[in-house]
Amino acid sequence: MESKWLRTDYCGEITEKYLGKEVIVNGWVKSVRDHGGVIFVDLRDIRGVVQIVFSPEVSKELHESASKLRDEYVLAVKGIVKLRPAESINPNIKTGNVEIWATEFEVLNTSETPPIPFDNPKTVSEDKRLRYRFLDLRSEMMKNNIVKRYEITKVIRNYLDENNFIEIETPMLIKSTPEGARDFVVPSRLNKGKFYALPQSPQLFKQILMVSGFDRYYQIARCFRDEDLRADRQPEFTQVDLEMSFVDMDTVMNIVEGMIKRVLDKVYGIKIEDRFPILSYEEAMNRFGSDSPDLRFGMEIIDISEEVRGCEFKVFSEVLDKGGVVKCIVVERGDEISRSELDFLRDWVQEFGAKGVAWFRVKNGDLESNITKFFSEEIRKKIIAKTNAKDGNLLLIVADKWEVATKTLGQIRLRMANKLNLIPKDNTLKFCWVVNFPLVEWNEEENRYDPLHHPFTAPVYEDIPLLDTDPLKVRAQSYDIVLNGTEIGGGSIRIHNQELQKKIFNLIGLSDEEANEKFGFLLDAFKYGAPPHGGLAIGLDRFVAILQGMESIRDVIAFPKTQKAQCLLSGAPSFLQKKQLDELGITVEVEES
Ligand code: AMO
Repeated sequence: MESKWLRTDYCGEITEKYLGKEVIVNGWVKSVRDHGGVIFVDLRDIRGVVQIVFSPEVSKELHESASKLRDEYVLAVKGIVKLRPAESINPNIKTGNVEIWATEFEVLNTSETPPIPFDNPKTVSEDKRLRYRFLDLRSEMMKNNIVKRYEITKVIRNYLDENNFIEIETPMLIKSTPEGARDFVVPSRLNKGKFYALPQSPQLFKQILMVSGFDRYYQIARCFRDEDLRADRQPEFTQVDLEMSFVDMDTVMNIVEGMIKRVLDKVYGIKIEDRFPILSYEEAMNRFGSDSPDLRFGMEIIDISEEVRGCEFKVFSEVLDKGGVVKCIVVERGDEISRSELDFLRDWVQEFGAKGVAWFRVKNGDLESNITKFFSEEIRKKIIAKTNAKDGNLLLIVADKWEVATKTLGQIRLRMANKLNLIPKDNTLKFCWVVNFPLVEWNEEENRYDPLHHPFTAPVYEDIPLLDTDPLKVRAQSYDIVLNGTEIGGGSIRIHNQELQKKIFNLIGLSDEEANEKFGFLLDAFKYGAPPHGGLAIGLDRFVAILQGMESIRDVIAFPKTQKAQCLLSGAPSFLQKKQLDELGITVEVEES
């Protein structure tokens, strides 16, 4: 553009301190209004909007040319900053007291009529927004999300820098070493028939950096996972990934908690003094039926196994005889839960492996239900005493194996909270740590143990003997950070001892050969003085989305993919030309459609 039109100031920053001054602003026409001879244009740039006045009093020609302006034209405007008349002051925007009286302007570019209204993205289908992302990103909401994401990342970088972390890039083309999800793979032209994988996370490389002596590593790292997508999952996403040597769980958790608190303070002006609550996995499951508990509301799970022991209700007594549990939640405004909802719950809980839900309504200090007759007055009293239930409350009860009962009630708790609007709509932020997950779980289908986090996670030292006798009881030195019921990050102290690592590989069904084939380079590195180390990764997209009050992480990613992993803007993924495939030595059997 011509130098004479270069801006002197941003549109969004013209305030009273500019009164009487001449400025040049550059931006997009947000709207044009013709008010009886005077034309008003709202001009928008990255910092905000300013009102421009094109008056025939200044110049007839200028006014005449301004009448041809349309939405989204790109302008450079020179003019004098004046106070707005009292009746047109807009207290809602920073520039609301002033306007620029144009003396000259230049149309830097025209625009077709935008195919989507982007002032309010929520009124447009998401597919359309993604197809026209360049316009969608002009909306106030999206601009704000992207700028805030940058600010959050900047605060994180500064914080980690102050704490002696250095940022190191790790490769994007790596060996396929599945970590849990499916790998995205990239064919190699120079090594026909062979494939790279895109990293699911920098896990192995950051551990190797510890062996190399970089004792505090971090990276704002892109990760790739070919998994089924949801609102909080993308095939490529970003982690704030870190790893530290010579640490224990507390050291890592303190660093991360400090980082989160710094972000809240610097970017949102929110100060949290208290330590985030720390719950063991077992406690989280027992109280909230979830390993990512939402602490924004109560309705905690209560165990009534002892209270109902000896009742005549077969479903309960049989479960208890087999070592299971009977647990419940107390729904306060139980009257609002209809009989048809109770019928629905009975079928719905099958999804979580439960066989049904029993219920009692509390009336006149007693329990009423279709199954009351199986419970003596004494047992009913005990239940009321244990649950502290009051008239009008509803008890929802699940009897099953501990896992099934807790998980099912966790789901029912969330459903009831949504139904009864118990989840605050304001920006309440409730963090907690969930620690010491089981090291492994039993995989029924494959008939083997699977690591709950990843196979490099260290067991709690005192539980190591259980590896041989009762592996399911072994707790991991692992920690998840949870915000408002969403896991926003997770990590662990790692195994740094070759022998222990081999033992865990064997436990999860990897023979020495298979382990060597998959992770040989890590095991090799461990032979040469691996320091004790541990780390964690925050899912940046999830973290930013929750802080920004967005339901989907797609709203905090400039160019996200759809649920079908497509980029509607660029058309990825796409078929390749035959020549490209030939060079790679690849034949594709799927027909182009
Ligand atoms: P994990 O697999 O728990 O740990 O991932 C860490 C965090 O990344 C986020 N996340 C995702 N975000 C968006 N889309 C996805 N598909 C997706 N998958 C995960 C979550 C999650 O909490 N290497 C380990 C970390 C470590 O042990 O240091 C890891 O990747 O917020």
